[in-house]
Amino acid sequence: MITLILVAASCGRQDGITGDWYALHDKSIVTISFGQDGMLGFYNEAFSSMTFSAHYALDEEANPMMLDITESTNGMGGAGILRQNADGSLDMNCVFGMPGMIERPQEIGPENASMTNLYFHLVRDRKALESELGPEVKVPAEAALAFERNRRLGAGINLNAVVDGNLHPGYERDAPLADDEIRSIADVGFQSIRLDVCWVKHCAQDRPYTIDPAFFEKVDHIVDVALAAGLAVSIDQHYYPYINMSYPDDQISMDENYERLVMLWEQIAQHYKDYSDETLFFDILNEPNVEMGAEKWNWLFNRVIKKIRETNPGRTLLIATPNMGQSWTLNYLELPQDDWNLIVQFHYYLPHTFTHQGLAYAMAGDSAGTVWNGTEEEKEPIRSDLDFCSRWSKRNGRPLNMGEYGVVNTADESSRVRYIGFILEEARKRDFSSHLWGYREPFMIRDEKTGAWITPILDAMKLK
Ligand code: GLC
Repeated sequence: MITLILVAASCGRQDGITGDWYALHDKSIVTISFGQDGMLGFYNEAFSSMTFSAHYALDEEANPMMLDITESTNGMGGAGILRQNADGSLDMNCVFGMPGMIERPQEIGPENASMTNLYFHLVRDRKALESELGPEVKVPAEAALAFERNRRLGAGINLNAVVDGNLHPGYERDAPLADDEIRSIADVGFQSIRLDVCWVKHCAQDRPYTIDPAFFEKVDHIVDVALAAGLAVSIDQHYYPYINMSYPDDQISMDENYERLVMLWEQIAQHYKDYSDETLFFDILNEPNVEMGAEKWNWLFNRVIKKIRETNPGRTLLIATPNMGQSWTLNYLELPQDDWNLIVQFHYYLPHTFTHQGLAYAMAGDSAGTVWNGTEEEKEPIRSDLDFCSRWSKRNGRPLNMGEYGVVNTADESSRVRYIGFILEEARKRDFSSHLWGYREPFMIRDEKTGAWITPILDAMKLK
């Protein structure tokens, strides 16, 4: 009897709204705390850009309840509607945006959600949500190999714009690369390179899309010199304009493009099959874009893996996360449960307005001059994001590669030094391998005219 009363009291509306609530959002856990002091805490364990505190006002008498979020630490406001269900859970839709531009949602439910109108099913019991993330993964002993290989990648650099220029307007150029430059990468202490290649630019227009042998020779040369210098090499299918950059293709359909990606990998895999599995890696596709979606990407990379395995049973492969290689999309990956020789790759560039400052292609054109002082307030969100990745890696038994991070070279140099040093240190602490972006402009850490490395950045990276 007593139990019944307690249960009733803790489930009903009389429970009140104050306290902590949990919801699954983008397959990770969000905590929303309604403080008695009028302060709201919003914590996204996977994505620090959606973590903030704010003032809130809640009209509990209204039906549905009305929520207003103001004076938020991330500059955004919110207007929401909430309903409490018979089981005590809450359903909420809330529009977030710049103050003055927020329209309160009309209806509650996931079907009303959009980029700005977010839907949450909030419960008090965090453990119950954790179990919704899926059963505990049984990690076999063979998973250790990929972790070992990931250590071999260690701290590396993206060798970009050496065979194919950056495809962003204004940065298309590529320049010849001298062998000494490759050796210098090893000399300053990098352990590996991620070689960014746009394979689709170098194949025949028609099936079976034969890759130009002269182009293979060019890539072979870089790979051979790098391996001889002691660098591990990850060959990346970087730009694939139709698949990961949404360029329209008037020659062949999207499905044929997916097919072509598989056929390109078939050839690359065949070509490098006799190279050592210890030091040569394949990185299947850079930043699969938002339009492709997680489902398509899961389908596509599983096909590519199977094709590569026909000739390269022992090669370690790198698999990017969906939605532009973001870290918060890790839970969307559906990795093959019979293949443990995989490293999962994410890219980390937050805060974006600092790392991409002034770059119009990255929608950060007006953020030039942003500095990064390395305060605790700046470091904390980054640690929180990387901790999420680390928990994912442990839970799933998959090693992680931070395949890109870096700061545009027009940013204040001491900010770059602090940020790059900090990110790499945090990656190392968590056993992530990494590749700085990049060797060539606009994120380079060398003087492009003299070829001299920017020593303070190298020093901060503690490569030796
Ligand atoms: C991604 C893009 C590359 C860009 C870099 C930094 O790798 O593919 O073109 O330069 O991110 O924004």
